[in-house]
Amino acid sequence: MITKATVDRIMEATDIVEVIGEFVQLKKRGANYVGLSPFANERTPSFTVSPAKGIFKDFSSGKGGSAVTFLMELEKFTYPEALKWLAKKYGIEVQETVEAPENKEEEYRRESLMIVSGYAAKFFHESLLNTDEGKAIGLSYFKERGFSNETIAKFELGYSPDQWEAFSATAIKEGYQEDFLVESGLSVKRDNGTLYDRYRGRVMFPIHSFTGRVIAFGGRTLKSDKNVPKYVNSPESEIYHKSNVLYGLYFAKKAIREEDNCYLVEGYADVLSVHQAGIENVVASSGTSLTVEQIRLISRFTKNITILYDGDAAGIKASLRGLDMILEEGLNVKVVLFPDGDDPDSYVRKVGTAAFKAHIDKNKKDFILYKTDILLKDAGNDPIKRSEVIREIVESIAKIPDSIKASVFIKECSHILQIDERSLLSELNKMRLAKAKKENQQQTTREPEIIEEPLFDEPQEKTHDSNSQEKEIVRLLLLYGNKMIDWDGIANTYIGPFMIAELSDVEFEHPASKAFLEIYSKEVENGVLPEEQHFIHHPDKNIVDLVVTLLATKYTLSENWYEMHKILVPDEQANMKATILGAIFHLKKQKVGKILENLRNELQKTDVEADQEILLSQYMHMKKVEKTISDYLGSVILK
Ligand code: UTP
Ligand code: MN
Repeated sequence: MITKATVDRIMEATDIVEVIGEFVQLKKRGANYVGLSPFANERTPSFTVSPAKGIFKDFSSGKGGSAVTFLMELEKFTYPEALKWLAKKYGIEVQETVEAPENKEEEYRRESLMIVSGYAAKFFHESLLNTDEGKAIGLSYFKERGFSNETIAKFELGYSPDQWEAFSATAIKEGYQEDFLVESGLSVKRDNGTLYDRYRGRVMFPIHSFTGRVIAFGGRTLKSDKNVPKYVNSPESEIYHKSNVLYGLYFAKKAIREEDNCYLVEGYADVLSVHQAGIENVVASSGTSLTVEQIRLISRFTKNITILYDGDAAGIKASLRGLDMILEEGLNVKVVLFPDGDDPDSYVRKVGTAAFKAHIDKNKKDFILYKTDILLKDAGNDPIKRSEVIREIVESIAKIPDSIKASVFIKECSHILQIDERSLLSELNKMRLAKAKKENQQQTTREPEIIEEPLFDEPQEKTHDSNSQEKEIVRLLLLYGNKMIDWDGIANTYIGPFMIAELSDVEFEHPASKAFLEIYSKEVENGVLPEEQHFIHHPDKNIVDLVVTLLATKYTLSENWYEMHKILVPDEQANMKATILGAIFHLKKQKVGKILENLRNELQKTDVEADQEILLSQYMHMKKVEKTISDYLGSVILK
């Protein structure tokens, strides 16, 4: 377990805007920052970060919490993983107690796989730089390809020795478990149970997760033998789902956000060369055709993708249809071709950064127009083929969610296709209608409402159930527990301990509120007044959820409560006393009401006279309690 002192130091150093800003484009709005939710596919920002409180709230998905919770949600980190990530970012040394981790099996496996992968990356990197074989074969190859020492170090490039067990045997000797070596694909198990290396004699490209941990590898052969696959990649595993990963994203995300554009290339080598040339907003889908998940990954940082293709026409045509999904995600897609025989890697090395950029600027073409050109060239003068082209283009345009943007394309395409704009438009509308119908049938869940100006305050439904009453107590403890209250000049007390004492005879029903109260009581017993931050950074996600929701939304129960009693409360803090007593006794009254109801039910059920008598006397007693509470409430309010 990570020690409390370390956790405190991490929390102190953490700037939530900075942390979340690595993943989400944030804009300042008033005291808060807003951006597009990374958890939901939204077009209007409803994701809010409050630097003052150190929390975020995502009104689209309902998620909320601290920087730690954010990393847990987004990266699927465990609590300790998230803490360690922050510690690394802020250069804090992590101290741990030796206790066995109580992590669930799965979390333990994921962490183990990442540790093994990290170890392997180091091993390959070392063997590239510090062994004779690595230097002679791997390093000289990278040098020949023009990769600088800096690039090699930054991307942790490596070399896997051309031996059967160089890596596996060392890893086993170092105490890494066979299971994880095999699952991560680094080692392969022979029939006789021993392990051998998967990537013998290959140069290694570690693949980093979104947050910079090594989760997989691509290994390139240095042989020109056609029977040997050029690249051997890690198999899918618990930590590596290749459709969710973009090579280079970890190193590119900052530049993508700053440039508000992402270059998409095909291979590892392209990413490295372009990045090395100082154009850092570049990623590759490495080997797979682009997936929706990958597009969404990019769209967290920018809405603009520029695809850099090598000049091979066949490949381009094959990928055209797949690219429609980028449009569907509402992104702007541009395409740049390179002269025949050149890919971004070779081209940037040939002409240098400035000319490379100039080439992009001069040749970038909007995807739709580009697609139209290619298909038209293909169709020639064949009228049937031409009409097919028209349909296909309009189909693409129909996928653009922004109708203004779509109509601009219609206009441009009507020129290129030499066809009346109106007939294109009517075709477009037909398709959109059909699409909408289909979606209506498929989806029972409706589109999220479009919120014009999302506010940190969210209207909350007004209820009187025990859940909201308990939450009201939690809210008051959170906001005012460490403040003093003056009881008519007689005595000053802290609100927290006062409320805890008053509630000692009340059992909370709802798990998160109950857990909160238990923690709070315990802290009070220890003579501590817990602050908001104590709960915002709690390991129990349910507590964080509850607390953040209460802090992030204007929880209106108490106002409602006053309304019910026909009392105007302009400002809750001015009427602190009434607010607190009101909340406590309203909850108590509700609990007593429940007890009364139970007693009534039991009375109806039993025929035994003695039982009836006991129940009745209990009932009368509770009735009295109820009346006392009501009177008390009345007096508090009337003062
Ligand atoms: P390339 O053949 O263009 O690779 O394949 P490259 O990275 O540019 O390598 P160099 O320039 O020849 O050294 C593009 C991408 O497709 C995947 C890899 O991710 C590669 O980077 N690929 C290619 C494979 O996964 N397996 C293969 O056998 C070939
Ligand atoms: Mn290449």
